[in-house]
Amino acid sequence: MKLPLSSLVVLAIILGFFAIVGYGAATADEVRNTFTDIGCTGCHNGQTAIAYDDLVNKVRAWGSEYGTIDEAVKEEVTYFGGQKFNSFDELMQTMAGNVGKTIDDPEIVQIKQFLQDQFAQGKQSPPPTNQEPATSSESEGGTNSTPFYAAVALGVLVAVVLAALFARR
Ligand code: HEC
Repeated sequence: MKLPLSSLVVLAIILGFFAIVGYGAATADEVRNTFTDIGCTGCHNGQTAIAYDDLVNKVRAWGSEYGTIDEAVKEEVTYFGGQKFNSFDELMQTMAGNVGKTIDDPEIVQIKQFLQDQFAQGKQSPPPTNQEPATSSESEGGTNSTPFYAAVALGVLVAVVLAALFARR
């Protein structure tokens, strides 16, 4: 089967499109690396403040308890000397400041987005009671990366069909 150039162009466009669509969703492991790299673990080490896995589980648990993540933060988070936050954004602003970043830095945006997704997912499926870290379970990674791979697979399928149609002419 001879592939005309036009079908390769179509393939590239389709793959590119789906790659961009899938790009937005960071996986739990990517976020964990960011969290460590930018220094959140300086406090979130299980001593000064709760560690990453516990933090993610906590935010998921909030999802099944509270209507919005802002309410959860208002009620649940007490910072060092007893400081309270009015919203998730306000909390994240302080956390970003803790590592010399602002709320607009891409790393902070990524973590924020991920935690908000966890909150939303917590609404659908409350965390397991056995305290297994949400981030290391099979389904967790799957939930986050599945749309991306599904999109890529679909893109390849469409491209192959188109390529075959072009090639028959
Ligand atoms: C200076 C120490 C410190 C640093 C650095 C820090 N945090 Fe925190 N963080 C805390 C404390 C203290 C709390 C209050 C609750 C607790 O003890 O877990 C908290 C709470 C949170 C919460 C609310 C959930 C909870 O456990 O109450 C999130 C989400 C959070 N931090 C994210 C981050 C992120 C993301 C970073 C890195 C950008 C970061 N933190 C860096 C000290 C820190």
